[in-house]
Amino acid sequence: MCGIVGYVGDNKSIEVLLGGLKRLEYRGYDSAGVAVIDADGHLATRKRAGKLQVLVDDLAAHPLGNGATGIGHTRWATHGGPTDVNAHPHLSADGKLALIHNGIIENFSELKQELLDAGAVFSSETDTEVAALLVGREYEATNDLTEALRRVVARLDGAFTLLVMHEDQPGLVVGARRNSPLVIGLGDGENFLGSDVAAFVQFTKRAMAIGQDQIVAIRPDSVEVTDFAGAPVEVEEFEIAWDASASEKGGWSSFMAKEISEEPDAVANTILGRVHDGVVTLSELDPIGDEALADIDRIVIIACGTAAYAGMLGKYAIEQWARIPVEVDLAHEFRYRNPILTSRTLVISISQSGETMDTLMAVKFATAAGARVLSVCNTQGATIPRESDAVVYTHAGPEVAVASTKAFLAQMTALYLIGLHLAKVRGTLAAAEIRENVGELQAIPAKIAEVLAVSQAEIGQLAHWMTDVQSVLFLGRNVGFPVALEGALKLKELAYIHAEGFAAGELKHGPIALIEPGQVVFVIVPSPRDPDSLHPKVVSNIQEIRARGARVIAIAEKGDAAVLPFADEVIPIPLAGTLFEPFLTVVPLHIFGMELAAAKGLDVDQPRNLAKSVTVE
Ligand code: M6R
Repeated sequence: MCGIVGYVGDNKSIEVLLGGLKRLEYRGYDSAGVAVIDADGHLATRKRAGKLQVLVDDLAAHPLGNGATGIGHTRWATHGGPTDVNAHPHLSADGKLALIHNGIIENFSELKQELLDAGAVFSSETDTEVAALLVGREYEATNDLTEALRRVVARLDGAFTLLVMHEDQPGLVVGARRNSPLVIGLGDGENFLGSDVAAFVQFTKRAMAIGQDQIVAIRPDSVEVTDFAGAPVEVEEFEIAWDASASEKGGWSSFMAKEISEEPDAVANTILGRVHDGVVTLSELDPIGDEALADIDRIVIIACGTAAYAGMLGKYAIEQWARIPVEVDLAHEFRYRNPILTSRTLVISISQSGETMDTLMAVKFATAAGARVLSVCNTQGATIPRESDAVVYTHAGPEVAVASTKAFLAQMTALYLIGLHLAKVRGTLAAAEIRENVGELQAIPAKIAEVLAVSQAEIGQLAHWMTDVQSVLFLGRNVGFPVALEGALKLKELAYIHAEGFAAGELKHGPIALIEPGQVVFVIVPSPRDPDSLHPKVVSNIQEIRARGARVIAIAEKGDAAVLPFADEVIPIPLAGTLFEPFLTVVPLHIFGMELAAAKGLDVDQPRNLAKSVTVE
């Protein structure tokens, strides 16, 4: 959702702001704007609805002046449509103060009425303008930008990151955050603020994450963090692990294409350093401790979207290996249904961004209820890890495309490692069994690379003949079921067509009524080699839908002869144990979603209406 950049330093604010906004584009937005202090010392703003390029072109035609202080914003509309006027920054009544905002000010109506009663004039329909007018008013009273912002945040309900700057305070940007992201970038004679480190990673690798309800004032040579009451706060520095180039598209046609190609690395890098002599060692779990982990009696996994499907796969692995009951809940459902949590419950939250508001709220709820919370996250400095007892970072690198791909595989990897670690501390698997599973996991990156090499062209062709298809169904059993859900989600969000994933066993309980001649059905077929395999049942399901005219595309182990007579297309995957098949079967579905969107001429990286990080509930 909204992206935020702040800068103080030398005279390159426009360059920093536009570069930062470009890198934050992936978050999803519909308008963009900047404010700088120009060469004459005046506050100047420019904001435009549409893509960032509209703003860039406007600034090229009518430059603002590349001052030393600035703030920039990409807006994802909530209150008021995506127009020039509603775009940020918003100004104080005297036009000297500019403010940008990510989040929702829930009590904005009352505050707006108060301002209207006092004679204020509004130019936009946003909740944000209320904050701009209020901070402007407090600045007039205090002449202190930090204090003015502090007074205002004390009156706001909801979630927000706010950045402000004032014409009379060159070299100063002040930010505040509650339940919405903000990180600091530390430069040499310059400092940065951003929604995430991507905003400034091209300028510095040094960063600090600001905690909940804190205010930061950056000047070129100083960074001062205080809490909402004004007390100083110590903030720890961390080094950004991502390369600036990792969030560049390079020569790829889309970020999504690049990120799918990185799926083998996402798995390999997430394993790296966590396996020693065939034994999984997750020192990140130390804050919870092996004794407590051995004592937990239930795990609840909370996440949204693709991360929740990774969680469903984690359930299969953790229950199988560590013999602990695992529930998987969508974070927004969990949070509002009064779930049963005890001190023996381990809650595992999964989030690529670490900022998903639904997941964050569920984490806070679980913590308050006395459960231990472990987060699986891909983004350093994000809020959810900070609110958790422990964090296992996935090392997928920055994921820019809105559709999650490599992060899904990295999340599965992290969950499988957690499952094997739990099996070790709880003694539910013998060392040799752990070693065998670790070996399987370590072999996965090369197998994904094989899937990528073999299936890319074939799936591209499939996608081309399917551009007019109105509906696609996905069937899977056991670990194939979450993969079916993931395949369907990718198609909905990328190709805008009706798609549904079903547990294949559920077919005869309803969904088979949808099958009519020509209906495209992807079937995730388990390996025939496992003696307990559900392979014969899935092959029966294929025959049932084929008999009713379905066009079947099977994703099956290479050499699976039983599938061939009944499938219109077979996408072969390498051999793997049942629990490890999803690492491979999901890859063609990621490619298919991307290829179909591209074949339909759609924006693969930024599908309509979607944001990469959903930072409002
Ligand atoms: O950043 P998160 O992992 O918390 O995001 C969760 C979902 O919003 C995300 O997976 C979403 O479903 C993706 N667009 C799916 O491709």
